[in-house]
Amino acid sequence: MPSLFTLVRALIGITALSSRPSAASLQTVTNWGENPSDISTMQIYVPDKLAANPPIILGLHPCGGTGQMYYGMTKLPKYADSIGFILIYPTTTKETNCRDCHSNKTLTHEGGGDSQGLVNMVKYALNKYNGDPTKVFAVGGSSGAMMTNVLAATYPDVFNAGASWSGGPGRLLQWGDIARGCYPGYSGNRTRMIIAHGTADPAVLYSLLGMQLAQWSNVLGVSFSKNMTNTPAQGWTEMIYGDGSKLVGLSLQGGGHIPRFQEEKVLKFFGLM
Ligand SMILES: *[C@@H]1O[C@H](CO)[C@@H](O)[C@H](O)[C@H]1NC(C)=O
Ligand SMILES: *[C@@H]1O[C@H](CO)[C@@H](O)[C@H](O)[C@H]1NC(C)=O
Ligand SMILES: *[C@@H]1O[C@H](CO)[C@@H](O)[C@H](O)[C@H]1NC(C)=O
Repeated sequence: MPSLFTLVRALIGITALSSRPSAASLQTVTNWGENPSDISTMQIYVPDKLAANPPIILGLHPCGGTGQMYYGMTKLPKYADSIGFILIYPTTTKETNCRDCHSNKTLTHEGGGDSQGLVNMVKYALNKYNGDPTKVFAVGGSSGAMMTNVLAATYPDVFNAGASWSGGPGRLLQWGDIARGCYPGYSGNRTRMIIAHGTADPAVLYSLLGMQLAQWSNVLGVSFSKNMTNTPAQGWTEMIYGDGSKLVGLSLQGGGHIPRFQEEKVLKFFGLM
């Protein structure tokens, strides 16, 4: 089996997108705030035409990846140009560029782990660009998808919604209870989730899709209502929970690791389109 690193590199060859006419580009930010677990870099994409109170999306790369790589893996920068939201691309260099999704620190609200450093990037951008704190989102592939789950569990007060592409829950057992335990006493709205996986994923077990959906349906208090086939595109099945506003699963028949991002579906779920 090829390593995850090789797979991800191969994928970039396929999905790297051609440059756009916009003048904006990815910029490196230093001193964004407390960085207790020493996450290496923060990069930010601020489009030329910014919305008045811009929404913010945190984009989390897979193991072996970088922020720059994940910037090229979706068309979100193109949508940022037309909608006016900000994208943040952190890079992690520890543990072969994987994120810490397992330690007690990262699984604790303000616990001093990776999750806290990432949230401080969001707070920096909200403050600097007068962002809309009710429109903060996380998206990620593989390890970044796992971190999206961790952020949803530990910072439901920060993230309105998240999109997990080929990930899994931070811990495998009783994630619903773990998610509640990450921020004890929190009683506000929970982070809404859209969770995607390819049925033929060679790197991260497909069964983790069902596990994430089971756990988030428990946390969000919604149950499965129906499937819609060939939605949002050919080959995909959309699994709707409740009325579809809080939890949605996306399964790609025959899809591999980190299948093509469904920008419009995700941005509609986030309420940005
Ligand atoms: C992490 O938290 C769990 C559950 O609260 C606890 O059992 C475990 O001892 C903790 N581990 C460390 C290293 O603190
Ligand atoms: C909580 O979610 C509901 C919709 O489900 C929304 O109407 C309400 O404004 C949200 N509350 C906060 C504090 O964001
Ligand atoms: C819904 O779709 C998923 C993914 O294709 C499938 O595993 C599941 O069995 C379907 N559920 C129903 C009730 O059709």
